Amino acid sequence: MCVSCHGTEGISSLPAHPHLAGQNREYLISAMQQYQRGERQHAAMQAMMGPLSEQDIKQLADYYGRLPRTPGDTQAP
Ligand code: HEC
Repeated sequence: MCVSCHGTEGISSLPAHPHLAGQNREYLISAMQQYQRGERQHAAMQAMMGPLSEQDIKQLADYYGRLPRTPGDTQAP
């Protein structure tokens, strides 16, 4: 469900949509929680984060944080 905007591998093809791959896990968690609490305002992202549990957010952050930053790059930073 995140793929349409953030890309299959967390590499977005649209300039307005940030890349998520390889991003710091703690940063991803706090960003998603900020949308959920309304501290970050973005209609689409707030709608996406609304129904997620804390557990969901951690799993998403784990997933995207582990993806390589560029497709085909398997080297962990
Ligand atoms: C309708 C398109 C859309 C969908 C679907 C979507 N996002 Fe986003 N997302 C955005 C946009 C646009 C931004 C940047 C918003 C802003 O400027 O605050 C963003 C920002 C983010 C950020 C903050 C990134 C940063 O670097 O600050 C995270 C994390 C994120 N999205 C995760 C997700 C996850 C996980 C999902 C699936 C549950 C998802 N998004 C679904 C459009 C989308």
